[in-house]
Amino acid sequence: MDGGQIDRGRRQHTQTFRLPKDTVNEKMSESREKEYNFAELLPLLRFTMRNKISISLFIFLAIGLYLLLFPPRWMLNRIKQVDASPATGAMLVEKYGCRKCHVLHGEGALKAPNLDEAVKQETEETLYRWLANPRAMRPNTAMPNLHLSDSEIRAIIAYLKASSSP
Ligand code: HEC
Repeated sequence: MDGGQIDRGRRQHTQTFRLPKDTVNEKMSESREKEYNFAELLPLLRFTMRNKISISLFIFLAIGLYLLLFPPRWMLNRIKQVDASPATGAMLVEKYGCRKCHVLHGEGALKAPNLDEAVKQETEETLYRWLANPRAMRPNTAMPNLHLSDSEIRAIIAYLKASSSP
């Protein structure tokens, strides 16, 4: 007996006693193999990864844009911390261009209330609220929200008070 004869004998044996259940099992394991074929899954995986990246990028940009347009006070206080001195206030008045609209220290444009007068009349609390959120003071006001931090507002008020006192 050579090896070929034994093989043939075995094959015949298994073919004779093949049960329908075996075929089903074979088919199932075949399909299972297919499901977990990583090479075939790779393009799909890359597609969903790209989707995830673009979705997270979109969310990231949307949050960034929102924070840029409507920066919350805690963020402003963190980013723009200055010492609340009149000298810093003078610098900030130039930086934010208050004199493009207001007269301040006898200088500036006449598009808005004279700040020398306003400072004499208003309390510090009112001035703070005007600078922090002008729309809360008058909903359709032309005074822009300059997104000032608390320390910037305190510096500007210190400067306004110092320069308005005779
Ligand atoms: C684009 C023009 C503009 C700029 C720039 C501007 N303001 Fe005003 N501001 C106004 C107008 C207009 C009003 C009057 C708002 C109203 O009564 O509706 C006003 C009101 C105010 C008031 C309240 C005045 C009052 O009568 O009680 C204060 C205080 C003030 N501004 C301070 C500032 C300071 C400080 C800056 C710079 C950091 C500044 N503003 C920049 C236009 C401007």
